[in-house]
Amino acid sequence: MMDTLNLPQRIRQDFPILQRKVHGKDLVYLDNAASAQKPLAVIEGQREYLSNYHSNIHRGAHHLAQLATEAFEGGRQKIADHIGAQGSEEIIFTGGSTDAINLVAQAWGRANLTSKDTVLVTQMEHHANIVPWQMVCEERGAKVVPVKVREDGTLDLDHFATCLERHQPKMVAFVHASNTLGTINPAQALCAQAKAAGALTLVDGSQALPHFSIDVQTLGCDFYVATGHKAYGPTGLGFLYGRKDILESMPPWRGGGEMIQRVSFQGTTYNGLPHKFEAGTPHISGGIAMGIALDWMNGVGIEAIHAHETALVQHAHSALGTLPAVRIIGNAPEKVGVVSLVIDGMHPYDLGTLLDGQGIAVRTGHHCTEPLMDHLGLSAGTLRMSFAAYTTREEIDRAIIALERAMNMLR
Ligand code: ALA
Repeated sequence: MMDTLNLPQRIRQDFPILQRKVHGKDLVYLDNAASAQKPLAVIEGQREYLSNYHSNIHRGAHHLAQLATEAFEGGRQKIADHIGAQGSEEIIFTGGSTDAINLVAQAWGRANLTSKDTVLVTQMEHHANIVPWQMVCEERGAKVVPVKVREDGTLDLDHFATCLERHQPKMVAFVHASNTLGTINPAQALCAQAKAAGALTLVDGSQALPHFSIDVQTLGCDFYVATGHKAYGPTGLGFLYGRKDILESMPPWRGGGEMIQRVSFQGTTYNGLPHKFEAGTPHISGGIAMGIALDWMNGVGIEAIHAHETALVQHAHSALGTLPAVRIIGNAPEKVGVVSLVIDGMHPYDLGTLLDGQGIAVRTGHHCTEPLMDHLGLSAGTLRMSFAAYTTREEIDRAIIALERAMNMLR
């Protein structure tokens, strides 16, 4: 059996921030779905680049440019290897998942969507996987249709099949793991069904990359997006994986330096993959740090992280189950380390503020999933605890004791 209890003890010293106090109390950081903390290797890797070999990449004729280029392209290769892409040219660096979805919506969507077309999403999408599609669909006269979510937080698979048949979508875009419910969707099966119905697929892996292993070949998706900062890496840096033939068929989106082959006033030709989609100087330290973050996760062991977080979710669910006033939102059998809850008559924000006073960091509100909240009838949103590899059972217990104290204060 995997030794998951000792995992935090092994790695917590890698995270300097976990030693600090907040409002005079030891920090309990349970807002990892919003952004995970950074291990020393990532902090040091960025510092090393900035203090020792900072330079622009690809174009310089000098030693520092070569070092920076190798490290940045090394980060891209590590992402490609980590998710099973066929080559690093299938990995486009972006500003994050949101930016990556906007890239596909604008570059692929503008070229392919017509007034007859549908983009199928789900009710559990983050706004980042709804609004970019709404924008391009409005422009092209196409429509966005959501698949329903069941009461327990799982995707309604019957409705998914019905929507495929009824709408014959050109694109099916869905979240691999929900940031609000924790639900892990059956991505491989959904991609296979979408493909059989003639659609392309985009999987939003923002909440998957930090928690379990990903293989885009097994998933059978056409696009996969994720962000660095939720996976122990940098902010402002994410990636788009796209199947090479599809990326090649897409026009560029943003214009500028780096994405061109030749520019003249008679006309411009574009660079090959992946640079065709990377106009301007990229987030160089971010690309380097992302590779280091993946090395760190692989060093710890993705399977160990997943097993540990699964055990934490079970622990949190059963401990919260002893508080009758608490209703857990999201009871799918397969979850990442996300536990959302509501308490009748108490505003999540008030509870979150009282927890903060006790050193416990959680997120409250709609978590950028307003359509899901509307569907579930939760106008004030939820209080969300979200876990990482370094989260301990004791921290969850402390948060639940603090929650009881907050409930008593609000009664
Ligand atoms: N999408 C991030 C979250 O779930 C910000 O908190």
